Amino acid sequence: MKKVRKAVFPVAGLGTRFLPATKAIPKEMLTVVDRPVIQYVVDEAREAGIEHLIFVTGRNKGVIEDYFDIQVELVGTLQERNKQKELDLLDSLQPRPGTASFTRQQAPLGLGHAVWCARDLVGGEPFALLLPDMIMQAERGCLARMVELYEQTGGNVISVEQCDPQSTEKYGIVGRGEDVGTGFHITGMVEKPKPAEAPSNFYISGRYILQPEIFSILETQEKGAGNEIQLTDGMLKLAASQEFYGYHFTGRTFDCGSKEGFIQANVAFALWRPDIRNRVFDDIGELLQTVEPAEQLAAQ
Ligand code: UTP
Repeated sequence: MKKVRKAVFPVAGLGTRFLPATKAIPKEMLTVVDRPVIQYVVDEAREAGIEHLIFVTGRNKGVIEDYFDIQVELVGTLQERNKQKELDLLDSLQPRPGTASFTRQQAPLGLGHAVWCARDLVGGEPFALLLPDMIMQAERGCLARMVELYEQTGGNVISVEQCDPQSTEKYGIVGRGEDVGTGFHITGMVEKPKPAEAPSNFYISGRYILQPEIFSILETQEKGAGNEIQLTDGMLKLAASQEFYGYHFTGRTFDCGSKEGFIQANVAFALWRPDIRNRVFDDIGELLQTVEPAEQLAAQ
């Protein structure tokens, strides 16, 4: 079985739910505590043993490439000032030369199309796909757990979580088959089913290990929901010839593409950090007691 060495990060979306911020800043560069959202996802990939990072970027996303490069002037200044702690931090986060690649999705035609844009960089091997606006909090990362499951099962592995059974219309939902190792066999996938028609309440939550055959399917994939080329439609076709397994992630997931999820992520990761936890805890307690909704903003 081929090892999962490469990870794809599709970062070409428009981030319309986060306007006006995303006019000038990619949503993947918004900051959770003291680092951009994308850094959390890259850390999760590295923890899982990923050796090569592939970013599918788009217009106005150049700052992501800059972020993963060495900032020569900054490093020089920190050296002059003997800021060793800061230098060590930057060094620990720096991808080694040649281990990060960037390709452009020229128009945001959908997630399936963004993944297809990475085909030449991935080549003919299984790869991980991480949606960078979903960040996860767990003692051991979701992708690392998925790689463990993949090493038992082969095939394709998708992270799933449980939603309120009445909210299935918001998600891609999978059917649950027999248990396999730390996961289960997926018996089907449905995009945004009504609660009565949903095969379960397990939704696809943003991490995938996929076989390279997905690329030839995506090449001819027609537009689906939202007039976009959908990854789920491609996976459904692949499921006709390959096995899919669900890894049930039970840590915390935050959708940083939404305002509420992004704020929750900031609070949760601040509370996770021993250096700032106590102060943040006290401050939030006080804010909860004293801040009232602003009437002049209610109409916006
Ligand atoms: P989303 O639909 O959540 O991102 O796609 P979006 O389109 O940027 O967000 P809104 O709805 O307008 O606020 C999930 C992931 O897939 C990427 C996005 O960057 C995001 O990380 N994506 C989506 C692409 O790279 N290309 C696309 O054409 C669509």
